[in-house]
Amino acid sequence: MNDAEIELWNGVVGDRWVLYQETLDARLLGFGEDALAGAELAPGMRVLDVGCGCGDTTLSAASRVGPDGLVTGVDVSRPMLARAKQRSASVANVTFVEADASTYTPDVPVDAVLSRFGVMFFENPGAAFANLRTATKPGGRLSFVCWRALDVNPWAAVPLSAVLRVLPPPPPAPPNASGPFAFADERRVRGILEGAGYRDVVIEPRTHPFVLGSSVEDAVEMASRMGPAARALRDADDEARPRALEMLRQTLAPLAPSFTLDGNVWRVTARA
Ligand SMILES: C[S@@+](CC[C@H](N)C(=O)[O-])C[C@H]1O[C@@H](n2cnc3c(N)ncnc32)[C@H](O)[C@@H]1O
Repeated sequence: MNDAEIELWNGVVGDRWVLYQETLDARLLGFGEDALAGAELAPGMRVLDVGCGCGDTTLSAASRVGPDGLVTGVDVSRPMLARAKQRSASVANVTFVEADASTYTPDVPVDAVLSRFGVMFFENPGAAFANLRTATKPGGRLSFVCWRALDVNPWAAVPLSAVLRVLPPPPPAPPNASGPFAFADERRVRGILEGAGYRDVVIEPRTHPFVLGSSVEDAVEMASRMGPAARALRDADDEARPRALEMLRQTLAPLAPSFTLDGNVWRVTARA
């Protein structure tokens, strides 16, 4: 179960998240704040951060639940967890577990489950969320952010369409395949959560600016290494790749000086 995603997050994708950890955390801050606010954290709570990656929201949650609370970050990516542990070495109320969140069971049920972009990678999301609901106290909170569709996410769509002017389009993904945009359809998300036994499901659109870089070179580097354009470039041959990168540069240059495009997410909250 989830083998392909686990391999990906322990390979080049996980390594890149570690490489760009500080930059990504700065750019994803607003999205994480939405997820944290939805979790309604209070001192003393136990919290599970699903797909915690390098631990940014885990640490933010820990400061909100205070010394009497405990936040556990669960993730399948060894390199990202190593970074998370390094960052939290002196923080007493944080712990990290290498496990598949779709089957992981905490010692005691938690007060809240939280995630910033860590819940779209399950092969069987219905079973995964049923497990997460069981891991939560009755009435406890679920709060996460996930990307809306690619075509309402210019931060991803603009770089992708630039490189696809040179590269062949990627093969169409099977419907509902796991991946960053797997939860784009709000009706599907509602169905998964209600099917897993959650109640009071609220799905709200949220928009934040997504800074691609501080210069055109920086923006091209980020867009060519992270997100859907990076995926298309990974398979490009030596002849097409420089042409696709040049197309990316020409497309992003007019965004100076901010190099910022919108990111659109669903902020999803529910009760176990
Ligand atoms: C897009 S990253 C987000 C990381 C982090 N939440 C952040 O916002 O910086 C997705 C994370 O989900 C993790 N992940 C994917 N499948 C998982 C699974 N089945 N169980 C736990 N974590 C998983 C990945 O390893 C990765 O760290």
